[in-house]
Amino acid sequence: MCGIVAYIGPKDATPFLLEGLQRLEYRGYDSAGVAVSGRTGGLKTRKVKGRVADLAAAVPARFKGTTGIGHTRWATHGVPSDANAHPHLDNAERIAVVHNGIIENADELRAKLTADGAVFLSETDTEVLAHLIAAHATEGTDLEDAVRAALGKVVGTYGIAVLDAEQPDRIVVARNGSPIVLGVGEKEMFVASDVSALVRYTRQVVHLEDGELATVRADGFRTFTEDARTTHRQPSTVDWEIDSYDTAGYEHFLLKEIHEQPGSVERTLSGRLDERFATAHLGGLNLDARELREIRRVKILGCGSAYYAGEMGAQLIEELSRIPAHSEPASEFRYRNPVIEADTLYVAVSQSGETYDTLAAVQEIKRKGGRVLGVVNTVGSAIARECDGGIYLHAGPEISVASTKAFTSTVVAFALLALHFGRIHDLSPADGRRIVAGLKALPGQIREILENDGQIAELAAEYAKCEGMMFIGRVRGFPVAREGAQKLKEISYVHAEAYPASELKHGPLALINPELPTVALVPDDELLDKNLTTLGEIKARSGRVLAIAHRTPETKLADHCVLVPKSEPELDPLLLNIPLQLFAYHAAVALGRDVDKPRNLAKSVTVE
Ligand code: AGP
Repeated sequence: MCGIVAYIGPKDATPFLLEGLQRLEYRGYDSAGVAVSGRTGGLKTRKVKGRVADLAAAVPARFKGTTGIGHTRWATHGVPSDANAHPHLDNAERIAVVHNGIIENADELRAKLTADGAVFLSETDTEVLAHLIAAHATEGTDLEDAVRAALGKVVGTYGIAVLDAEQPDRIVVARNGSPIVLGVGEKEMFVASDVSALVRYTRQVVHLEDGELATVRADGFRTFTEDARTTHRQPSTVDWEIDSYDTAGYEHFLLKEIHEQPGSVERTLSGRLDERFATAHLGGLNLDARELREIRRVKILGCGSAYYAGEMGAQLIEELSRIPAHSEPASEFRYRNPVIEADTLYVAVSQSGETYDTLAAVQEIKRKGGRVLGVVNTVGSAIARECDGGIYLHAGPEISVASTKAFTSTVVAFALLALHFGRIHDLSPADGRRIVAGLKALPGQIREILENDGQIAELAAEYAKCEGMMFIGRVRGFPVAREGAQKLKEISYVHAEAYPASELKHGPLALINPELPTVALVPDDELLDKNLTTLGEIKARSGRVLAIAHRTPETKLADHCVLVPKSEPELDPLLLNIPLQLFAYHAAVALGRDVDKPRNLAKSVTVE
């Protein structure tokens, strides 16, 4: 949700700023801007409504400077427009600020600054920061002191980078709730909202903590707290591959990430399966077997697809360990004054590790003394740091706004957790071995499904013409249906509704007609007969059916069928979901959508 970049060093900052913004564009893409300053001071700025490519086209060749900041925006305050794009400047055009987050007391600060003579040119909350810092940047004041003083008056979340035309040998950055990463180069320094913008230039990075600031100069950096105490931070080495940030010959990041799943699932499983004891080893839980035995309930929290992955996780935990488990949207949980119980294990799920609602839920649980584990992809992210322990997915960077490989790895991580719990409770060694074998077979089975891309593409192009779609599944299949519907609407904008197959006759059957086809999850399990009955009810109302199944239902029950390999029943949802990812992708392509950057959305939702 908004991307920030900055550069200071001997070279021209602009090429890095534009390339870095392009890499961060998945975080927000409604407007973009840059500001640079040369050794002799002065500020040049360019900002435009639209994509980073529009900004690059608007930046003239003479737009050069050795210090610069840039931003790609996802609008919160004010419509996407040139004026609302960042950087924002004070009226003397001395201070330039880029910001990710929300200034909650912006209205109050704006009124006060206006009374003091500031003239506001945008509708954004960020602009108050530029005027506020300028008000503190009096003659002889170091920029870091002006930024600290200004932030002392601010309530809200921020990741910011500040450039002062009168002190162009430094950039001051600060973090509170929105990530800021420093990249350490050879006599040059970089800043970004995440490492994807940096890895081409340096692998040495420093993740700022909440409440921490840094003054960044070409020859190094100094970190400190809001009350000016120096902190000592050593750079760490990024281990993600550079080509994770390229489409590697695929037409879109989404297609690449769907096809990466055999490898990403292997990484999630790597070193965690114990064949001897038919269990899983999860070193990061920070809970021993005795503590785990005391857990009476599991509550899983996440947003969007992370919540649906949590629903699949809850079913896995209940089935394998017989511990009651439930998944709830973190965005709802945090606002309903939840009861926090000592014998409940809370699990926060997040690909980005930045989602504000999920982070706030974790903080609420911890404030009330609850224990929280994180199932997180991004190492060192805010949610990962806030949790008491957890499981890293190791799925690799996920760039496309729609989650696919992180979703699958999350469910795999839950299968590992459920196996671990189960074997501490009553799951038999034979059943443990069955699940271990099932998990080991997943990467090969996913590969097999991906080979069927052609058939799914053809079906998707045909079904994409419909006015909307119904997705149905029973019990284990229902979260698959929810995620399938979510993926379709998110990237193709085709209306899609997910229902438990068992509920269809209690209302939504009234919607069924030839224009509203149904995607039905039909695994070959103990509920197969029930699912076939539901298909019969749909066909009796002239509904079209696309079945995702282990074997082809009788022709009169489904118009089309995509077959998937059979796993263990508990793990089947993982495989049934893969064709739905491809289906959504190809439907979006057929409709000419911007697959990796769907309208109105952004990858990391760091606002409420
Ligand atoms: C997934 O396709 C969506 N883009 C969205 O629902 C996402 O899963 C949700 O915003 C949570 O993100 P997180 O996993 O980074 O916390």
